[in-house]
Amino acid sequence: MQNLKKRNVIVGQSGGPTSAINSSLAGVFRTAKERGYAKVYGMIHGVQGLMAGKYIDLSEHIQNGLDEELLKRTPAAYLGSCRYKLPKIHENMETFKKIFQILDDLEIDCFIYIGGNDSMDTIQKLSDYAILTGSEIRFVGCPKTIDNDLALTDHTPGYGSAAKYIGTSVKEVIRDGISMEMPHGMVSIVEIMGRNAGWLTGAAALAKGEDCPGPDAIYLPELPFDVDKFVAKCEDLLKVKNSVVVAVSEGIKTADGKYVSELGGGADYVDAFGHKQLTGTARYLADLLSSKLGCKTRAIELSTLQRAASHCASRVDILEAYEVGGAAMKAADEGDTGKMVVFVRTSDDPYQANTEVKDVHKIANDERLVPREWVNEEGDDVTPRFITYVRPLIQGDVAPIMVDGIPRHLAKPGFINML
Ligand code: F6P
Repeated sequence: MQNLKKRNVIVGQSGGPTSAINSSLAGVFRTAKERGYAKVYGMIHGVQGLMAGKYIDLSEHIQNGLDEELLKRTPAAYLGSCRYKLPKIHENMETFKKIFQILDDLEIDCFIYIGGNDSMDTIQKLSDYAILTGSEIRFVGCPKTIDNDLALTDHTPGYGSAAKYIGTSVKEVIRDGISMEMPHGMVSIVEIMGRNAGWLTGAAALAKGEDCPGPDAIYLPELPFDVDKFVAKCEDLLKVKNSVVVAVSEGIKTADGKYVSELGGGADYVDAFGHKQLTGTARYLADLLSSKLGCKTRAIELSTLQRAASHCASRVDILEAYEVGGAAMKAADEGDTGKMVVFVRTSDDPYQANTEVKDVHKIANDERLVPREWVNEEGDDVTPRFITYVRPLIQGDVAPIMVDGIPRHLAKPGFINML
């Protein structure tokens, strides 16, 4: 291994938060300290905050084992996150010069970014600029997203815990619906995140078991959504059961490519990567059913509950998130740059997955969708193969550290006000 500098590390969190993102942060920190780095800085709100000179010394926040265990159990980005797209290198060299000046002033040798496909665009550009200018700073991505849509990896930390929460919550919604007898029946529509990938919505099928029939239909964004067919299916279901529960992705589109959430107005907000805020899909469909079928309806938009549910986190997910944080730090320490850590699954049962590093240029801004063969012929459910894939990722629990009856999170005095 060439004589690599090992002075300080800086780590940031970017994109949609998850309930495992801080376990990765803890993994980066622990490995950096074990490998002899003097300081581990944390960017406040990712690269956007770094450019404004906002960062902390993580050693002042993770002072002992209890802090580390609390951090692993704290949902959403402890350091604050951002949705900030760096400009193309040759269009704005000044931006990159400024970032690298800050990194040089902090004597940074390893830059770790915990994020999804959009965030890997940052690792790609910074590592390209380093090579262009002869900087020896190493840039490595640590995978993170509840959407599970990162390319080249079997799955992504954050997904398992969100899937566990979704399967559990859908099961409880089904149980609630069964317990009430409505004169004209009831249709509950559960709206689930995931943008254009249906991995999260498919996890609603986890509700099915000996004690629960599971949802009556599941609609993924990978397939065109037929509104009339949906209404007809609900009408047929209400003829044989009083309570119908349907899971829909926030990102379902009609055959002409229009988001269903836009049919009811939806939100006009668009983020820095051009992603439109997807909300109101369940509300639109519930109101449509109510007017067409005269039944009672509920629109249950899980929204940020599904990505902040640390009280229902998957042990496998939290442990793997810590593992990839450490693996990203190890890769940078050993000279890798322009890479992201990925999972390679070698066995479903017993579950076995290992980590590797892959070229971030083949991952950034890409999407990995649910294979068509993992959805049934009709297009309104997932197959047993999907369940075999997701089941290992939701195993085990991570008991919250309860104080006065409520989960305790890591919060150093005054720090939350800095975010
Ligand atoms: O990227 C994760 C995610 O939670 C998506 O599933 C969702 O569509 C998006 O973030 C919501 O983004 P925001 O919280 O910025 O509205």
